[in-house]
Amino acid sequence: MAASSAAESKDRVINLDHGDPTAYESFWRESGEGAYLKIEGWENMSYFSDRNNLCWFLLPVFETEIRRIHRIVGNATADESRHIVIGNGSSQLFQAALFALSTQPGLTGTSGPMPVVSAAPYYSGYPAAADFLKSTLYKWGGDANTFTPHPSTPHNEAICSPNNPDGRLNNPVLLNQNSNNIHDLAYYWPQYTPITKAADHDIMLFTISKCTGHAGCRLGWALVKDADLARRMVKFVELGTIGVSKDSQHRAAAILRAVSNGYESGGACKLFHFGRKMMAERWERVREVVKAKGAFGLLEYPPPSYCGFLREEATHLPAFAWLKYEGNQDIEDIASYLKTEHSIEARGGRNFGTTDKYVRISLLERQKTFDVFIERLSSIS
Ligand SMILES: Cc1ncc(COP(=O)(O)O)c(C=O)c1O
Repeated sequence: MAASSAAESKDRVINLDHGDPTAYESFWRESGEGAYLKIEGWENMSYFSDRNNLCWFLLPVFETEIRRIHRIVGNATADESRHIVIGNGSSQLFQAALFALSTQPGLTGTSGPMPVVSAAPYYSGYPAAADFLKSTLYKWGGDANTFTPHPSTPHNEAICSPNNPDGRLNNPVLLNQNSNNIHDLAYYWPQYTPITKAADHDIMLFTISKCTGHAGCRLGWALVKDADLARRMVKFVELGTIGVSKDSQHRAAAILRAVSNGYESGGACKLFHFGRKMMAERWERVREVVKAKGAFGLLEYPPPSYCGFLREEATHLPAFAWLKYEGNQDIEDIASYLKTEHSIEARGGRNFGTTDKYVRISLLERQKTFDVFIERLSSIS
C-alpha cells in the first residue's frame, strides 16, 4: 500500500455499526450474471400484483422463488400451508406483526398497550420499533428474562435466532399461553449457522438483506400460519406504503432464482458456499487477534452441528462479533473508546439491553474495511 493511502486509512473512521451486508458485493460482481434483470418502461405500473392472493401486492414470481429457496435450503416450512406477506424490509413486517397481534379479535378488555419483549442482548431495532409511534396497541416491555407476564394480558416476544447481536441460537423465554412469538430468522441461512431443521413457527420473518446481501432492495417476507393474522399484516403494509415495489420484487426474484439455480441446476452462483468461506476466514482472523491480545473476550458458540443443507458438520459463523472488553484499562463505554481512540465505529451494549462493556461489530462489511478493522483491533492490548 502506498504511504499516503496508508496514512489516509489510519485516520478514516470505519463504520461497523450497521449490519450493512456489503461483503456480498464482490460475489455478485463475479457470479451475478444469472441475476441480470431488464425492466421495460411500461412494466410494473399497476398497484396490484395478484388480486386473488391474500397478499395482493405479492408478485407470483417472487412468491415462487421464496417458497423454492426455503425448500432447497430446508430452513423453514414454506409450503402452501403458509401465507406469505411481504414488506419493505423485514423491519416493516416486524411492525406489521405487532399491529396484527395486538388487534386480534377478542382482545378487548385487556389493559393498556401490549408489551413487546425480547431476551437481552436483543436486536436494537426491537425497542425502537415498538416505541417509535407511541402506539396505544403495543409498547416495549424490555428484557424477556426479567419480564413478569400479566396473568390476563398477552404479550409479544421477539425471538431472533441466530441472534443479533451475539449469534446465540435462541428459543422463546416466556412459555405460556399469553405469549405471542415473532421468530426473526434473518440470519437462519447456511453461511451463518448449520441448518439443523426446517423452522415451523406461527410467524417467521426473513429478509433478503442478510440472505443475499441486497439490503437496498428493501424486501422482507413473513411466513404466517394464520390467515386472519396474515390479512392484518397485509393491511398494515397497505396502509403504510400501499404494498411493496414491484421493481424490487422482480429484482429479488431474479436474485433468489440465481441462487436456487446455483444449487438445483448446477449454476455458478453458489452464494452460501461463498458466504461460509468468507465468514470462516473472517472469524478465524477475529479469534486470532482476540486470543493474541487479551483485551476482548468472545462468547463460546455451540459446537458444530450437522447441516442438512451442506450435508456436513458446520460451525456457527455469526454475522457480528460480540466483544466484551476485558483489558486492564478503566473503560466503561467500549464503543466510545473504539471510536475516539481507534476510529472504529460500532454499536455499544446498552443499545441491546446490556452494558457498554460489550460492543457489536459487523463482520459483513467490504473486505478492505474488514482488513482495516483487524489491523486496528490488533493494536489494542
Ligand atoms: C435481526 C434483524 N431483523 C431484522 C432486520 C431488518 O432487516 P431489513 O433490512 O429487512 O429491514 C435486521 C437488520 O439488521 C436484523 O438484524
